[in-house]
Amino acid sequence: MEAVTTERKPIVLSAIQPTSVPTLGNYIGALRNWKLMCEDYDCLYAVADLHALTVHPEPAKLRQQTLEMYALLLSIGLDPEKNTVFIQSMVPAHAELAWILDCYTMFGEASRMTQFKDKSQKHADNVNVGLFAYPILMAADILLYQANFVPVGADQKQHLEICRDIASRFNTLRGNTFTIPEPFIGKVGASIKSLQDPTQKMSKSDPNPKASVSLLDPPEMILKKFKSAVTDSEACVRYADGKDGINNLMTIYSCCTGRDFAAIEAEFAGKGYGDFKVKVAEAVIEELRPVQENYRRLMADKAYLMQTAAQGAEKAARRANKTLFKAKKKVGLLLP
Ligand code: TYM
Repeated sequence: MEAVTTERKPIVLSAIQPTSVPTLGNYIGALRNWKLMCEDYDCLYAVADLHALTVHPEPAKLRQQTLEMYALLLSIGLDPEKNTVFIQSMVPAHAELAWILDCYTMFGEASRMTQFKDKSQKHADNVNVGLFAYPILMAADILLYQANFVPVGADQKQHLEICRDIASRFNTLRGNTFTIPEPFIGKVGASIKSLQDPTQKMSKSDPNPKASVSLLDPPEMILKKFKSAVTDSEACVRYADGKDGINNLMTIYSCCTGRDFAAIEAEFAGKGYGDFKVKVAEAVIEELRPVQENYRRLMADKAYLMQTAAQGAEKAARRANKTLFKAKKKVGLLLP
C-alpha cells in the first residue's frame, strides 16, 4: 500500500478593519505578506467589521466599506478557493469566544495597551468598552483557528503579546485548548511612515490626505503625493539615522522592486531627490496597477462577492466552532 503523507501546513490568520481604503502601509506591512504566505501555509484572512464598530461608523457606510475591503482582499490575489477569506461578523463564534476570553483577561493587562491609550486620547468623546476589549476580540479571532502565525505590522505586536498571555492563562487554568501564536512581522516595511511626517506611521485616519497613499489612488495622485513627500536637505539617497523621510521612501521602493538598500543607493548615486521620488512613485503605481484592475472588475459583480463571502464564512465557521465547543466545555458551559 502506498504511504499517504498527511503533513499539515502551519495555520495563518490575520485580519484588517474596513474603516477606509487600506493604505500603502497596510499593504506593505501586512497584506503583501498575506499573499506571499498563501502557497506554503493554511491561511485564513478576515475583514474585521466587528472591530470597526468601536468608532461608530455610519451603518450604510460600514456595509459598503466591508464589501469593498472584501473585494480588495481578493484583488491583491488571495484565492478564495485555496484560502479562507471571510467577514468576521458572519462567523458568530468570534463574538462568543471573545466573551469567554474577556473573563480570562485581567483589567490591568488590558489597560496597558498603548493603542487603547492612544485611541482614547484621540476619541475622548467615545471611549467605549468595545475599544477597551478590542484586543480580546482580536485574540478570539486568532485562537479560534489555532493559528501558528499572525502576519501583522509592528503596531499590532503588543496585541499579539496579550493574545499569547490570555491563551497561556486559559491553557494553564483549564487545560490545553489553544495554540500559542507567533507574530509574523516582516523585516522590511513593518512600519511605513507618513509621507508628510516620517516620524509617524502612515495611517488610514490621518486628516492630511497627502500623508498617506491609498491602494485605490489613481496614478497621477500617487505621483503627486510622492513628489511632495517630506525628505531632508542632504540630497543624497542613503539609508541612515536621522533621514526618516528618505529611509521610508527607500523601504517602499525596496518592497515594490525587490532591490536591497545597497542596490538602491548605487542606483541613485549622484542623482537628486526629485528623480528618486518619481521612481518610487512609478514603482508603487506598477505594484498597485493589477490590484486596482482586479478591484474594478470585482466591484462590478456584487452577487459574486456576497456569494464568495458566504462560502468563506461557512468554511471559517466549521473550523471556529470546533475550538469554540472545546472552550465552552472546558469552562463548564452545558452543550446541547
Ligand atoms: P488595521 O486594520 O489597523 O491594519 C491592518 C494591518 O496593517 C498593518 N499596518 C501597517 N503596517 C506597516 N506600516 C503601517 N503604517 C501600517 N498601518 C497598519 C497593521 O499592523 C495590521 O497588520 N486590530 C487589527 C485588525 C485585526 C487583526 C485581528 C489582526 C482584527 N483581528 C486578528 C490580526 C489578527 C487592526 O486594526 O489592523
